[in-house]
Amino acid sequence: MAYIVVATGNAHKVEEYRKLLADQKVELKSLLDYPGFPGVEEDGTTFRENAAKKALAACRYCDVPAFADDSGLEVEALDGAPGVYSARYAATDPERIARLLGELEGKENRRARFVCAIAIAVNGEVIETFEGEVRGVIAAAPRGEHGFGYDPVFIPDGYDQTFGELDSETKNKISHRANAFARAMEFVEEEMSVLDDDFGI
Ligand code: IMP
Repeated sequence: MAYIVVATGNAHKVEEYRKLLADQKVELKSLLDYPGFPGVEEDGTTFRENAAKKALAACRYCDVPAFADDSGLEVEALDGAPGVYSARYAATDPERIARLLGELEGKENRRARFVCAIAIAVNGEVIETFEGEVRGVIAAAPRGEHGFGYDPVFIPDGYDQTFGELDSETKNKISHRANAFARAMEFVEEEMSVLDDDFGI
């Protein structure tokens, strides 16, 4: 079976993508399968830029089609912060959440969105990037054990529970990553004739 590499070593993300790709005739590998991968500095100023950089590096290193995502949380009352710096907002997930809740103390507007950019690289070139989002609000305190990152404080629109409380199936239907991925898959299916040889599908 043909395979594609997702340029991440984050086991949670790999799991989400494995589920999203469950119906496709392609096997998913990740950087967990390439322990020698030298890593990429995520120094871009946009999600798309970082995703493109990671996809390209993985495609070149692994010598197979690759895709990468870059994602984060944009909070309205914080002028879009932590945004592209979401991972660097503090050292650990609980500290990132604590900082976020601290910054929002006393602020009425708790609207936020998760954003995800996905880039696809084939034959050593980035061929396209896509963006997806999910809008919601930041909870008063963390709730739930599912997911990762800021999930325990993000309540998506239309739900009362946080991503930390909702099961992974629900998150995978509505998440920023799922939305960006759906756009990427639409593109791959449309371009299948062009990509046939690369994907071997
Ligand atoms: P990156 O895309 O791996 O650079 O992650 C950026 C940051 O956003 C990390 O701190 C993640 O915890 C956070 N993040 C990205 N996607 C999600 C998500 O689906 N849930 C919660 N946090 C996320």
